[in-house]
Parts: sequence; C-alpha cells; structure tokens
Amino acid sequence: MNARNLLMLLLPVFGIIAACASSKNYDPEFNAAPQDVQSDWPLARERCSQCHSLDRVFEYVDASTSRDEIEMIVEDMAGRKKSEIQDDEIPRIVEVLDWRRQK
Ligand code: HEC
Repeated sequence: MNARNLLMLLLPVFGIIAACASSKNYDPEFNAAPQDVQSDWPLARERCSQCHSLDRVFEYVDASTSRDEIEMIVEDMAGRKKSEIQDDEIPRIVEVLDWRRQK
C-alpha cells in the first residue's frame, strides 16, 4: 500500500477522533445557546481552560453569580501573567459565562 492510500484510509479515522474530542468539549447546554453565544463558546473554552479546567469555572460560576461578578472574574483572569485573554475578548467571554450560568 502506498502512502497516499494509507492516508485516505486513515483520514476518516482522524475525523472520528476529532469529532469525539470536540463534542466532549461542549456542554449539553451548548446546543440550546443562541447563535452569538455558540460562536464565542470555543473562545471561552480555550481561554478559560488554559490554566485550570473549565469545569472548575462552571462549578464556581452558577445561577447565584451576578453578571458583575463574572466581569470581575474574567478581568482578573485576563490580567494574570501568561493569560492569553485579549481586552476585546473579555465581553465575549462574559456573554458566554453569563448565559451559561443561568442554565
Ligand atoms: C493565566 C492563567 C489563568 C487563566 C487564563 C484563567 N485562570 Fe482562572 N484561575 C487561575 C488561577 C491560578 C486560579 C486559582 C485561584 C486564584 O489564584 O485566584 C484561578 C481560579 C479561578 C476561579 C476560582 C475557582 C475556585 O475554585 O476558587 C474562577 C471562577 C476562575 N479562575 C475563572 C476563570 C475564567 C472564567 C477564565 C477565563 C476568562 C479563567 N479563569 C482563566 C488562573 C487562570
């Protein structure tokens, strides 16, 4: 078997692995979220799981957390050393967490 055929054979396998990996990344709530929240969800996931798991965030940020508190948390985390959170990403991440906490 040549390399090209082997690649064609393996591509679907990679696809399945990637699909499983990414679906694991999303909470059941993801599907119920409005379009703008869904489009920023991966950003929130990536940025807020850089130093700790996102589960930790979702455990902490729940229905009893106010939007102001969420803004403070995200700004605090954005200001941490090595944080990759950009200023313009803060409101987008707040949007996701604020929607998610109400679920
Ligand atoms: C640069 C590293 C870093 C990034 C990025 C980061 N955090 Fe954190 N976070 C920490 C550290 C370290 C702690 C441990 C507690 C502390 O130092 O306050 C923490 C703690 C927390 C806590 C408190 C959890 C608890 O159990 O007390 C929350 C909530 C939280 N982070 C939310 C977020 C959110 C939301 C984001 C994305 C916007 C984020 N973090 C991104 C470093 C980070």
